[in-house]
Amino acid sequence: MSDANHIHALMLPFEKELLPLPERAFLMRAEPSDAFDGPWRARLVCEQGFKPVCDRLTKAGYQAVARLEGRFPAGLVLLTKHKAENRANIARAWGLLEPGGLLVCSGANALGAGSQEREVEREVGLLDHLSKHQARTFWLRRPEGDAPLPETLRQWLAAGEAQPVGDSGFVARAGCFSPEHADPGSALLAECLPAAMAGRVADLGAGWGYLSVQAMRRCPEITGIDLYEAEAAALGDARTNIGCLAPEKAACASYSWQDVCAGLPEVAPYDWIISNPPFHEGGRADPAIGRAFIAAAWKSIRRRGKFLMVANQHLPYEAELRRRFREVDLVKLAGGYKVFLASNRHDRVAP
Ligand SMILES: C[S@@+](CC[C@H](N)C(=O)[O-])C[C@H]1O[C@@H](n2cnc3c(N)ncnc32)[C@H](O)[C@@H]1O
Repeated sequence: MSDANHIHALMLPFEKELLPLPERAFLMRAEPSDAFDGPWRARLVCEQGFKPVCDRLTKAGYQAVARLEGRFPAGLVLLTKHKAENRANIARAWGLLEPGGLLVCSGANALGAGSQEREVEREVGLLDHLSKHQARTFWLRRPEGDAPLPETLRQWLAAGEAQPVGDSGFVARAGCFSPEHADPGSALLAECLPAAMAGRVADLGAGWGYLSVQAMRRCPEITGIDLYEAEAAALGDARTNIGCLAPEKAACASYSWQDVCAGLPEVAPYDWIISNPPFHEGGRADPAIGRAFIAAAWKSIRRRGKFLMVANQHLPYEAELRRRFREVDLVKLAGGYKVFLASNRHDRVAP
């Protein structure tokens, strides 16, 4: 159990017959798990905005969507480490319930589920709770009738929407990468964007669009920019941020909800690719993700195209860059980050 403890904890009130098995339920921040084997799997509508996990859910036979709609007799919420995201999910979950509907939430103690539980108890009221598998599980019912969303939940919902990123003019939301300020690694890469960057560009792991906006501002010869991002909500905010550019620039951007590790779709190869690749999934550091981004960039770049990427200094990407590209230059090393420019001045190396 370990990583999935809170998923097993989520099922406990049903297993202990403290709660009846619902006919149908939504599951927010869903992940595939053997805890849902048996009667659960066919009853769940799973919400997962992170494409790789959404794809895994679909492959495992779950009904998976990026964003839930409709009304349900019951809902389940898996809590993450982001308090504002959890609050917004709980408020949105309340709104998705039919009157009298049941909401069950579970999260790992280590990620602050205890304080989240106390807050929900104070602000909305709980039916009951239990504590097992180093996790907290608590549940409540939406009142019968047409009660409006309680004021606190309204505030939680609003706080989960995109918020200003300092005074940068950008917006981003809790739960996405670096929502409060531009990432220092990305800022370093932005300093290295050459004014001569031109033609068709892709931004891999575009987040809320910081790098793409910088590229569009600094490089007037860019004719199109394609943003690839796995987190659906971040991609929505990227669209908002790019939308603040001059209309003719905003019009040449496209947005793809994409697992870059699975490769890019078949499009004409790019003149330039930029990226600040992720190196975590679900809290686990994994440089294989960055290596998969390098491979995806290499496969989708023109023969004379260039790949500009930034990484934390300790991440071991040099070997993969050199395996894929003929020329790899370290163009900047500062503040714990390194920026590489990779290109194939001659023929490509074999995959
Ligand atoms: C280090 S952040 C960089 C974000 C943005 N480019 C910036 O500079 O602020 C990496 C981004 O990659 C996204 N990501 C993680 N795994 C991904 C995957 N498999 N495919 C596509 N994007 C992914 C994350 O959601 C995150 O937004």
